This record gives sequence, structure tokens and C-alpha cells, in this order.
Amino acid sequence: MEEASRAVGARGRVVGVDLAEIDPPLEQKNVVSLVGDMTDSAVVERLLEALGGRCNVLLSDAAPKLTGVRERDDAAEEYLLLAVESLSEELLETGGDLLIKLLECPEAQAFQQRLRARFSTVKTVKSAATRKGSRERYLLARDFSGPESLE
Ligand SMILES: C[S@@+](CC[C@H](N)C(=O)[O-])C[C@H]1O[C@@H](n2cnc3c(N)ncnc32)[C@H](O)[C@@H]1O
Repeated sequence: MEEASRAVGARGRVVGVDLAEIDPPLEQKNVVSLVGDMTDSAVVERLLEALGGRCNVLLSDAAPKLTGVRERDDAAEEYLLLAVESLSEELLETGGDLLIKLLECPEAQAFQQRLRARFSTVKTVKSAATRKGSRERYLLARDFSGPESLE
């Protein structure tokens, strides 16, 4: 959030949501942080309201609480990927970009393919912060083709 706050500057706005409160709270004037579940439609409404409309960039480093039970962790990650896919439809403006951290899971390839249908380019980007052997990677999807109902 702090990096995003610097990147958008005083005339931009950063709105974040997490199940947990940020402690200590961020003090940047261009940041709003909400507590809530991003899969909840009421939270999506609160995000849109705080943003004042659709956004240019959607960042997600949401991750499930891992249990160590592979099937359960994969299912939880898949659920979050679907949630971010839905959020991009509801929050991103046409031409917008999505950067998402994902954990490799059976659904990851299909998720990436679906993004390719909705963005001009989708590529894996590496982060120096990612540990060797980690299941996580980042996907950068650029130039959203515009909102479309998932129903
Ligand atoms: C890797 S942590 C990142 C936390 C924070 N962005 C940071 O940089 O420290 C993953 C976060 O995803 C959040 N998360 C998981 N499921 C979520 C959901 N359904 N809605 C909102 N946040 C969620 C967790 O609460 C957790 O704080």
C-alpha cells in the first residue's frame, strides 16, 4: 500500500481491503484501507465507493491461510483466483492493469488462460522477494478489454 501510495502520488488514490486491519494504520492521505472479505459483494460496493468509480490498476497479494493439506490449500487458492477475476470485472476500467500474486495450483493455468481472453497481454513476472522453490509467482495482465458480466 505504501509503494502504491507513492506511485499514484497526491492526486491519486489507493484503496485496499484485507480481512485483517492494518496495524499500525497507514497515515498516507491518499490511502483508504477497508477491513472485509473481497468475495463479499457488499465489500465490492464499498471499494467502488471509496475509489469513486473504477480503478486503473488492481493489485492482489491475497493469499489463503495455509493448512498444509494440499487439496484444501489448492481449493482455497482457487477460490481467491476466482474472486480476483471477478473483482477485475467489477473494479477495473477499460485499459486497466492487474498484478496478482498466485500460488501454483491446478487452477492456475486455466486462470491465466481466462485472463488472456480479457487482457491484451499476460505474463509472469519475477519478484526478488520470492524465495527459491516457492510456489508463488506474479502475473501481470495489461490493457483490460472492458467489463463484462461473469454470469
Ligand atoms: C500475503 S498476505 C499480504 C498482506 C498484506 N497485503 C501485506 O503486504 O502485508 C495475504 C493477505 O490476504 C488476505 N486475504 C485472504 N483472503 C482474503 C479475502 N477473502 N478478502 C480479503 N483479504 C483476504 C489475508 O488476510 C492476508 O492478510
